[in-house]
Amino acid sequence: MSKVLTVAILGAGSRGADSYGKLMNEDPRFKIVALCDVRKAKIDRFQEVFNVPQENCFLDENDFFKTKLADVCVIATQDKDHVRHCLKALELGYDILLEKPITPVLDECYQLIEAQKKYGGKVIVCHVLRYAPLYKKLDEIIDSGKIGKLIDIHAIENVGYWHMSHSFVRGNWRSSKNSTPMIMAKCCHDLDLIQHFAKSRYKHVSSIGGLTFFRKENQPDGASDRCSTCKYKDTCPYSAYRLYIERWKIQGQLENCWPQNVITSTVPLTEEALKKAIEETYYGQCVFACDNDVVDHQETNILFENGVTANLLMTGFTHECGRRYTFHGTFGEIIFDEINQKLELYVYGEEPEIIPFSVIADVNGGHGGGDAGLVQDLYDVCALNKPATTTLEESLESHIIALKAEEDRLSH
Ligand SMILES: NC(=O)c1ccc[n+]([C@@H]2O[C@H](COP(=O)([O-])OP(=O)(O)OC[C@H]3O[C@@H](n4cnc5c(N)ncnc54)[C@H](O)[C@@H]3O)[C@@H](O)[C@H]2O)c1
Repeated sequence: MSKVLTVAILGAGSRGADSYGKLMNEDPRFKIVALCDVRKAKIDRFQEVFNVPQENCFLDENDFFKTKLADVCVIATQDKDHVRHCLKALELGYDILLEKPITPVLDECYQLIEAQKKYGGKVIVCHVLRYAPLYKKLDEIIDSGKIGKLIDIHAIENVGYWHMSHSFVRGNWRSSKNSTPMIMAKCCHDLDLIQHFAKSRYKHVSSIGGLTFFRKENQPDGASDRCSTCKYKDTCPYSAYRLYIERWKIQGQLENCWPQNVITSTVPLTEEALKKAIEETYYGQCVFACDNDVVDHQETNILFENGVTANLLMTGFTHECGRRYTFHGTFGEIIFDEINQKLELYVYGEEPEIIPFSVIADVNGGHGGGDAGLVQDLYDVCALNKPATTTLEESLESHIIALKAEEDRLSH
């Protein structure tokens, strides 16, 4: 009989409960024994789904952190709270699954490393793509030497016009003051992957970009500040009605799906609940009349100590979400395309190898199987004492690159 890891979840939202909680609840090697969320509706729903005893359900983090309640603490609260929560959890002796980004404050990165050394808990940062089979395949090809020595990485993070407006104009990550700069919120996975593939520490970072479009001066003539009263609500591509209701219908009116389940807690989803959320919440605000300040496009250049160079373009102006990475090597090139779901390997002078993603792995599941891979790694590390795929120090390297990029962008 395998050891059962007990789990306490802090932040029972989209990541904490809907993603990791769901995966753990379906896996008999985990048992969710405690929950904390400031939103009562979340507690009520997931207490029942995960069968958590009433005495272990909390609305206040201070009560949750009075004693250690489980082997592992999942921290899936908002970006600015991660370090505060992680420090408390380390002090209580938890091993921790910590949502990214760790923090937008450099000093806090070092504070966390010190605390981990002092208290000894394991901290696994949710850089989920490291655990996704497709990215592991990329690793394998680069390590095989087929493309020779890696010279340059060209990466595009296609945010998607609807994801851009949902998360970074109307949603939780719209304000760098209340959350984190977008290069951190959206690209810390890319930066983590890029530094991992480059196999070196960074030497120099520069960045340009800004918030060009989602500003008051670009609001069409006669538009209203809320979609519910706007004359463009059926035609504007960013209309909340089109993004949350029309897209939901086109995609088959699922009972529970993202991002609709962010704007309402009603499950199963209904058109009425979505309309109500659009009328009453910030998700129905005009994209040209929000209090957003994060960029809508940004380009970052990195020089690594070993001479590898990388360029990362993040843009909200794309029809699809997905990464496109090209790896240029001395003897070959790899084109990795999440949108067209294929990996192309060109070894110079030889026939190209075009591999559909479906041949490499089952890419269903959160982050192409990365969420499930991470939960598996968590078990291996915390229950079986196996070495972790990646360390807190390595995760912090990508955060430092993001902070340097933002500092440089703001200087222009
Ligand atoms: N690893 C990834 O790929 C990935 C993807 C998306 C989001 N994230 C990160 O995951 C974190 C959570 O994002 P989400 O999409 O689940 O957001 P969410 O809003 O759906 O969930 C956060 C939950 O935390 C609760 N909460 C906030 N403050 C709290 C507190 N002090 N005590 C208890 N509960 C509190 C909220 O009520 C909410 O239910 C964020 O930091 C985000 O950047 C990571």
